[in-house]
Amino acid sequence: MGNMKLNLKIWRQDGPNAAGQLKDYPVNDVSEDMSFLEMLDVLNDDLVRKGDDPIAFDHDCREGICGSCSLFINGEAHGPTRGITTCQLHMRRFKDGDTIYVEPWRSAAFPVIKDLATNRGAFDRIQAAGGFVSVNTSGNLVDGNAVPIPKDDADKAFDAATCIGCGACVATCPNGSAMLFTAAKVSQLSLLPQGKPESKRRALAMVEQMDKEGFGNCSNTGACEVECPKGISLEHIARLHRDYLVATVTKE
Ligand code: SF4
Ligand code: FES
Repeated sequence: MGNMKLNLKIWRQDGPNAAGQLKDYPVNDVSEDMSFLEMLDVLNDDLVRKGDDPIAFDHDCREGICGSCSLFINGEAHGPTRGITTCQLHMRRFKDGDTIYVEPWRSAAFPVIKDLATNRGAFDRIQAAGGFVSVNTSGNLVDGNAVPIPKDDADKAFDAATCIGCGACVATCPNGSAMLFTAAKVSQLSLLPQGKPESKRRALAMVEQMDKEGFGNCSNTGACEVECPKGISLEHIARLHRDYLVATVTKE
């Protein structure tokens, strides 16, 4: 198959308080073997050669691990293919002559830094509020491998731990809720014996921080689970609700 011509409509915005707009960028010679980010790299090389401002977008690992590549492509978080991140999306998913809309995550809690790059520091602050296990280092440490963990719990904790903090759940949710992310970060610890002693404090602190950051309320639309590149299950939200309820009613 030959190379494609595409009409990109890309969100440009100078800074957090500037007004943004979609701008047209026709691109020729796009190979179906390029990843979506490589296609943007080629476009940026052209812009720089012409003396224009390159398009700002986040990326790091380019292999689905870091969660930084976060684009809304044709109205879908991480584009049209389920179960992948934007860096894993290939141009063969599109057809010659296609128009592709490329926008940043839209959420009040993720302000635009520039163009397609958003500030997702709110996630870091939720994690810092309680997403850890306190370890006693006074000489009576128990080897992690010596603690028996039921297989089902270990598998569920591992599934929760695959959340890469990309924010697709928030960007997709009609309420801008961060429940799926927070629930994954709570579950990956509270399912394990090492995480249980702090589970009440953790659930309260992380939910409180989530609310402070201005994320919306969860109304169980389930859109987050559909668009999550790591398939994080809504079941974790149910677990967070339980942990939170228990923590609230037994609060001293
Ligand atoms: S729950 Fe899924 S969509 Fe949300 S931040 Fe984690 S990996 Fe991304
Ligand atoms: S660049 Fe790291 S997940 Fe896409």
